[in-house]
Amino acid sequence: MDIPYKIYQLRVGDEDIWNYTYLIVNELNHKAIIIDPAWELEKITGLLKQLKVELSAILLTHSHYDHTNLVEALTELYDLKVYMSAVEIECYEFNCKNINSIEDLEVLSIEGIKITCLLTPGHTEGGMCYLVKDSLFTGDTLFIEGCGICDGDGGNPEQMYESIQRIKQIIPLNTRIYPGHSFGKKPGLRLIDLMKENIYCLIENKKTFVDFRMRKNNNRKFNFK
Ligand SMILES: [Fe+2]
Repeated sequence: MDIPYKIYQLRVGDEDIWNYTYLIVNELNHKAIIIDPAWELEKITGLLKQLKVELSAILLTHSHYDHTNLVEALTELYDLKVYMSAVEIECYEFNCKNINSIEDLEVLSIEGIKITCLLTPGHTEGGMCYLVKDSLFTGDTLFIEGCGICDGDGGNPEQMYESIQRIKQIIPLNTRIYPGHSFGKKPGLRLIDLMKENIYCLIENKKTFVDFRMRKNNNRKFNFK
């Protein structure tokens, strides 16, 4: 049976940095999964109360602080399992209560919702995207307008190129993309739209991709474009 579910987008942040936290709610049993919970605890707990849903699990796309800073608070409040890629846990020594490591192409079933885990390094060594039916949660791998920076700790533009190629090959074109940040456009555009407008989806040559991603005259704050 196909479980009916709904996705809620929460724009959360402090003055300088804004992230998207996502809630996936199973509409039959009113249990929810949260992706990259960060910054605004009351906004999240308020939505859970308003929807009358209970949180079952946290999925983490990667270990960066702006995607994980409410993990501890939420695991104190609720009985939750936390998921992150095994590579990411090992490389960055990430640890928290109830942590579970996951492998590339592992399929999780949480509250009846099927989640396919896709390892997409490039922004960090063990970045993971999560496919839930026709929605892909991409963290800082793929944004609507660009892709994550590749010059941080464990970042690698060659791997980012391969990861984006992999997404293009594996993920159906009508899949909606839900990134960890937005730089103007609302999350939820389809992959087919990104294939027309996102330059990192358009570049088909690895060297061109790497040279463009790592170009020196790119002074934007997060260097995402
Ligand atoms: Fe990040």
